[in-house]
Amino acid sequence: MAKSTGKIIAIDGPAGSGKSTTARLAAARLGYSYFDSGALYRAVALLASEAGILPDDEEKLTDVAKKMEIRFQTDENRNRVFIGDREITEAIRTPEIDRAVTPMAALPKVRKAIVERLQEMAKGQNVVAEGRDITTVVFPDADLKIYLDASPEERVKRRFLEYQAVDKQADPELLAQELKRRDKADKSRSEGPLKIAPGAVVIDTTGFSVEEQVERVLQLVGEKMGVEVRKEAVGKRSRMKWFYLFIWTLVRNLSRFLWRLSWEGIENIPREGGVIIASNHISWYDPPFVSVSCPREVHFMAKRELFSIPVLGFIIRNLNAFPVSRGKYDRQALEAAIEVLKKGEALIVFPEGTRSRKKGEFLPPKAGVGVLAREGEVPIVPAYISGSDELTKVFFSFGRVRVTFGPPILREWVKSLPEGKPGFSQIAEEVMRRIGELKKAAA
Ligand code: DC
Repeated sequence: MAKSTGKIIAIDGPAGSGKSTTARLAAARLGYSYFDSGALYRAVALLASEAGILPDDEEKLTDVAKKMEIRFQTDENRNRVFIGDREITEAIRTPEIDRAVTPMAALPKVRKAIVERLQEMAKGQNVVAEGRDITTVVFPDADLKIYLDASPEERVKRRFLEYQAVDKQADPELLAQELKRRDKADKSRSEGPLKIAPGAVVIDTTGFSVEEQVERVLQLVGEKMGVEVRKEAVGKRSRMKWFYLFIWTLVRNLSRFLWRLSWEGIENIPREGGVIIASNHISWYDPPFVSVSCPREVHFMAKRELFSIPVLGFIIRNLNAFPVSRGKYDRQALEAAIEVLKKGEALIVFPEGTRSRKKGEFLPPKAGVGVLAREGEVPIVPAYISGSDELTKVFFSFGRVRVTFGPPILREWVKSLPEGKPGFSQIAEEVMRRIGELKKAAA
């Protein structure tokens, strides 16, 4: 198995056992990435049917599985699935795909390709993954393995309610037959059949509410992995200094009103401990927009000259800005920033160093973000901001400034890289790549 530097929680179970919802919500609460492995099989089925590939053409299907550019964009409410820039969230949930996917998922070479892709995707991330063979084949060494189950009647009932919720016609009798058929196929195939892995904890969710299922999983995470779990997905704000809180509230509400500022993915920002929030940079107004989108107090660098301007100097100092000399290597500022991180604070940085003027294109990153992360030994949360460069056009009108935060680049991965320019640059490249992914997802 490909070694991942992050933590892995693997969940398997039959259709209707509640594993997708449970896994997604648990991931949000933990700040982990969520992997819906069934979506990969479903995506193969969709792409194959569009390309006219026959359901038994194992070679061609395997080729699709290996090459498709699949990615997820998850929040507490749902998991969106993309192939490149195309969203396929809905297209893979049709009854046709339900039917087409089962025989394809039984083909050994297709399975092998998907297993490898999942292992590759998990590298360097903390993950909650769910499916049929996650605990047995994909991540047999997971930090926590769970088998979710529920009585057949309960599972049919849940499917029925799901269908009704989206206005799909459903006959409980047919659903029961369908579920039975899928159970049988999933459990009896020779490759990666659904079964209880050694060391897996079995949870019978019959009669559980979704909240109870998530709580049970998080309780296990606490017990077995020693991971402290936040009480709520969007946890309570750590206390802000009164001046900061005052300005933060004012600017936040003003921005929402005037420029329709919105944010997404704030569950990715750890509520405590040192962290870098690394954003693309398109406007002078990015620092305040990114700051007020963050649910905790943040620090940032500002031009040295600004600090000697009477009122402004006072304000920005109290908003946790610290001075940096522009246009030259400022070791002092770098050390101050590392100090901030070591004290367990959050720091906003713009890895490109300056605003990118060409719309939609990033500048090559400076290695500085790598130095900070490596020496401060902190994770990096990528952030993508859009719309702030249109501010003058949209003042008081129809602006739409949006900040999206992605899953953190792990501290463990950062620490595994050598100190020195190549390692620092590698971190910086990874940061921009992750910001690029957020940009694609936002498009
Ligand atoms: O969980 P789901 O209904 O989205 O899964 C879609 C299909 O893919 C289903 O037929 C089972 C199969 N699958 C699998 O074989 N192995 C996985 N790890 C996940 C799903």
